[in-house]
Amino acid sequence: MLSQVNSCGLLGIDGYIVTVEADISNGMPCFDIVGLPDAAVRESKERVRAAARNTGFEFPSKRIIINLAPANLKKEGPAYDLPIVMAILSATGQLEIFDKEKTIFIGEMSLDGGIKHVSGVLPMVISAYKSGFENIFVPSANASEAAIVEGAKIYPANSLKEIVDHFSGNLPIKQHKEDICKYFGNSTDSILDFCDVKGQESAKRALEIAAAGGHNILMIGSPGTGKTMLAQRLGTILPDLSFDEALEITKIHSIAGTLKKDKPLITTRPFRNPHHTISPSGLSGGGSIPRPGELSLAHNGVLFLDELPEFKREVLEVMRQPLEDGQVTISRVNATLTYPCNIMLICSMNPCKCGFFGDPVRQCSCTGAQVHQYRSRISGPLLDRIDIQVEVAPVDYKDLSSERKGETSSQIKERVNRTRKIQLERYKEYNIYSNSQLGAGLIQKFCRLGKDENAILKAAFDNLGLSARAHSRILKVARTIADLEGEEHINTAHIAEAIQYRSLDRKYFG
Ligand SMILES: Nc1ncnc2c1ncn2[C@@H]1O[C@H](COP(=O)(O)OP(=O)(O)OP(=O)(O)O)[C@@H](O)[C@H]1O
Ligand SMILES: [Mg+2]
Ligand SMILES: [Zn+2]
Repeated sequence: MLSQVNSCGLLGIDGYIVTVEADISNGMPCFDIVGLPDAAVRESKERVRAAARNTGFEFPSKRIIINLAPANLKKEGPAYDLPIVMAILSATGQLEIFDKEKTIFIGEMSLDGGIKHVSGVLPMVISAYKSGFENIFVPSANASEAAIVEGAKIYPANSLKEIVDHFSGNLPIKQHKEDICKYFGNSTDSILDFCDVKGQESAKRALEIAAAGGHNILMIGSPGTGKTMLAQRLGTILPDLSFDEALEITKIHSIAGTLKKDKPLITTRPFRNPHHTISPSGLSGGGSIPRPGELSLAHNGVLFLDELPEFKREVLEVMRQPLEDGQVTISRVNATLTYPCNIMLICSMNPCKCGFFGDPVRQCSCTGAQVHQYRSRISGPLLDRIDIQVEVAPVDYKDLSSERKGETSSQIKERVNRTRKIQLERYKEYNIYSNSQLGAGLIQKFCRLGKDENAILKAAFDNLGLSARAHSRILKVARTIADLEGEEHINTAHIAEAIQYRSLDRKYFG
């Protein structure tokens, strides 16, 4: 007696179809699972046996072999419980599953026959539906996220009994539907706003440029100058998400298990600020059942590293490649996984350990060597990936006490949106969407300088001792400043402002 049912596995952020075969024959009673199961899948046997019995089925005292195909990929997690039990019930003729070749089962079982939430259902349903499967049985707790996939018929179940009643015709399960428009639209109700930040005009300007061109940014300043406050508001001026971007973010959070049941589609850009004690794998992702790390959880949004020098060096090093590639690669025994991480990085730091180096009022108590040691924790290659550096000075009392409200986030965001549109249009044939992504060839093409602009840049290099790495950063940022003004050509004012965002390189990291 042989039976086959279909399920889904995960590889990175994409699902793939897994066929679960049950072969039941006479002979020494045994129950084996083959096809690279991990520990959680092997434990499935106990859950499946108890769940079937407690739902009133007879568990065959025979030779049971379960094969999970394709055999070359490691099957991880408990989501195969449900398809395994369905394959056994079907092979023993206890249940007839109609439309089997168009049906997918996903779910972890509890001993009493209940069906429990599993992670990663959204990407699984997306790929199952793409592969031609129409009917998808998922745990009730995952129904909302599964139903985001338009066209797929989602059947939520709380227990094996409900599924059995469905196929026996006793009580068909009602399809679950979601109105995704409901989640879009009202996405900008953040309580934070740039108008709460008094003064700090130059830091705000730098953040606007960073948001407009997708540039990574580092803020340096003494304690209490508002760095954290500024960073927390960056998300409020980033462009709105497209549906595809929202779906990608949601897939990642589905896998990480961080989706909220009442909000199955994430419609705001993520803002992640991991603590500086985070481990390298916490940042990059991984683990025995692979999960996306902070880099990927921030995908299409902001990763904020507050107090940058406090992060362990190996943690900062982990970010280098992903920042360049927009994806994190994790090696597994039988496969390499990639998770996307198109992020805007924003970092803050004090100028020294005590925090008051260069402060106009407070005295720095660090020795020269201590100052140097503190800053040297940030490596050149990491700085290389940060286009904009800005000093955040203490706020004037005059500004702090002023009643005048600054510009609101939505006013700034309007300019950011307009500037992003220019870039989208300009780069539509190049598979990039922002100035920050320009490679060497495209910089030459799109960041041409006239004679005067060239002269200014050369003078800056001669006089300020800029590092070679600063050159392309300056050109890209100048491009964004020109785009903010809707100018086709980079002029002297644009290049001069861009140079200013690199001049700290020498002051702090020279
Ligand atoms: N520009 C500002 N406008 C209004 N309030 C401010 C401003 N700067 C600082 N504050 C107030 O000071 C508090 C501390 O600011 P914040 O935590 O952002 O400073 P920080 O630069 O991150 O300091 P640290 O280096 O110690 O982390 C804020 O919560 C806010 O109440
Ligand atoms: Mg802070
Ligand atoms: Zn100091």
